[in-house]
Amino acid sequence: MAAGFKKELITPDPTFETSLKNKRIALCFFENSTRTRFSFEIAARHLGAGTLSFSASTSSVSKGETLSDTIRNLEAMRVDAFVLRHPSSCAADFITGITSKSVVNAGDGSHEHPTQALLDMFTLREYFGTLEKLKVIIIGDVLHSRVARSNIYGLLSSGASVGLCCPVTLFPPDAARLGVTLFTDIDKAIGWADSAIVLRLQLERATGGYLPSLEEYSFYYGLTDEKLDRVQKHLLVLHPGPINREIEISNNVADRIQPPGFSQSLLLEQVTNGVAVRMAVLKTLLAPGSVS
Ligand code: CP
Repeated sequence: MAAGFKKELITPDPTFETSLKNKRIALCFFENSTRTRFSFEIAARHLGAGTLSFSASTSSVSKGETLSDTIRNLEAMRVDAFVLRHPSSCAADFITGITSKSVVNAGDGSHEHPTQALLDMFTLREYFGTLEKLKVIIIGDVLHSRVARSNIYGLLSSGASVGLCCPVTLFPPDAARLGVTLFTDIDKAIGWADSAIVLRLQLERATGGYLPSLEEYSFYYGLTDEKLDRVQKHLLVLHPGPINREIEISNNVADRIQPPGFSQSLLLEQVTNGVAVRMAVLKTLLAPGSVS
C-alpha cells in the first residue's frame, strides 16, 4: 500500500481517494519533532482527515494537566485517533488503556519508534527488492535509541540479519539476547554489512560517562569516506535524523546521493517514504474495510 501512496505523492492524481474524510487525528507531540510530526500531518491530510496539532508547551500540560486527562479531553472532542510522541517509554501503551480510539506510537522515550522502522524497512526493500538475508548494521548510540529497537525487531522478523556497532558502553543491557551480531570495530562492521543505519548520538544523554569525548567517538565510530575507502565496500546509508554532522556521519557521506564514492545516502528518500508509510498506517487503522 505504501508503494502506491508514494507514487501518488510524487505524481498527484486529482481523483485520489479521501478514505479518511470525516476522521479527526490528534497529533500529540510531548517532545520535539520535525520529520515524524509533519509527515503524519501530511499523510493524514492527503487521505482527507482533519488534524489537531498539539504541543505540550502551548497546551494545558504546561499548567500541570496530566497525560490521561489530556487524552480524555481530546477524546471528548470526538477525535478518532491519537499519534503520540512522548519522552516516557511505554507512554503509547499506557494511553491505549485509557482510550478506545486508535493510538499510533510516534516515538516513546528510548523504547520504540515503529513507524520509523517501517519506513526504514520500506526504503531498504525498495533498493534491494527484499529484506531476506540482507545484512544491516546499526551504528551508534544503540543504548538510547528507540529507532534501533524497532528496527531490530522489524528487520529480524523480515528475514534480515542485524549487526550493532558501537562502544561497549552504548550496547543495551539485553544486546546479547536480541539475536544480533555485535561489533565494536567499525571496519569489521562495515565489511560485514550491505547497508548501514547510522544513529544520532543523543548528545543530551550519551555524553557524561558513556564516552571519553565526542572527538574520540567521532574518530572511531563516525561514518566517513576514509573508513569506507579503507574497507572498499559500497554501503547504502540511512539515518533517521536529525543528524549531528561530522559527529556520527560526515557531510560527504550524509549528502552523497550518487556515486562516485563507496556510499549512497538515502536520508531524504527515507523522509519521502515516511509520508507514504504513515499514510498506509493511518488508512489501515482508520479505514480497514477499504484496505485490499
Ligand atoms: N526520525 C525522527 O523521529 O525525527 P523527528 O524527531 O524529527 O520526528
